[in-house]
Amino acid sequence: MTQSLSNRQAALEQARGLLAQCEKIVCFSGAGLSAESGISTFRDTETDALWSRYDPTKLASPEGFAEDPKLVIDWYDWRRQAIANAEPNAAHIALAGRPDIIQVTQNVDDLLERAGCKAESVFHLHGNITHDRCHARCGYQQKVDLGSPPGLRSCPMCNAPLRPAVVWFGETLPQWAWQQSEQHCRTADCLLVIGTSASVYPAAGLIQLTKTYGGKVLVINTQPSGASALADMELIGPCGEWLPQLLS
Ligand code: OAD
Repeated sequence: MTQSLSNRQAALEQARGLLAQCEKIVCFSGAGLSAESGISTFRDTETDALWSRYDPTKLASPEGFAEDPKLVIDWYDWRRQAIANAEPNAAHIALAGRPDIIQVTQNVDDLLERAGCKAESVFHLHGNITHDRCHARCGYQQKVDLGSPPGLRSCPMCNAPLRPAVVWFGETLPQWAWQQSEQHCRTADCLLVIGTSASVYPAAGLIQLTKTYGGKVLVINTQPSGASALADMELIGPCGEWLPQLLS
């Protein structure tokens, strides 16, 4: 779906006008933000998205991990290598060029940070693939080399299996990231909703939270999404094209 050049320009001006009135801008992003870096999305209808090729109950749940831990770790190590080989795209770089914007992301990759966002202003709601943690939650956590991931191994402190420090289906979100994200979305004058299907909760509920507290919602996506109904404005197209123009 594309917009004609004059429509695009008008939409861009309108979106810039909306942002110009806002003091506090928060960005809520999903897999579409990293798509132009070559990282697969999960449930995009236009591409070979991960959940159309793989079963999330086997690869992204505690039950799947209990059943076949090696399968799960091998799959995450494959994703880790893809992220290691990827570079931040124009959308990450445009966001990093605006340190005033708080980043709330569902993405587990480190491309926002590699683009230059300060770690303390990026809240990873679904954890970080850059780290392993103890599955038994003894507290052990370790940064891994994404380009040369360690494979299945045991926790050196308690011998339980180690696993990627990401959130799986049925697990709770990291408390600090969630509390901060709620707080920022509640007080946002504008929430930029970038490249997410807005179909996974509780994260997707942050969009409604901003609306409820009177903030505007500006959506950028290649297609209509679960956020469309809440959007004050929607820019259809790749975020790597829209964001540099919008935020420069
Ligand atoms: P999805 O794969 O569900 O949605 C990606 C969205 O990005 C779709 O709406 C696409 O239309 C859009 N998109 C694709 N390319 C784009 C581009 N270049 N520019 C703008 N938009 C683009 O990904 P999420 O919404 O992030 O959870 O999925 C949410 C969660 O579901 C993920 O964090 C993951 C997954 O299961 C966990 O791992 C816990």
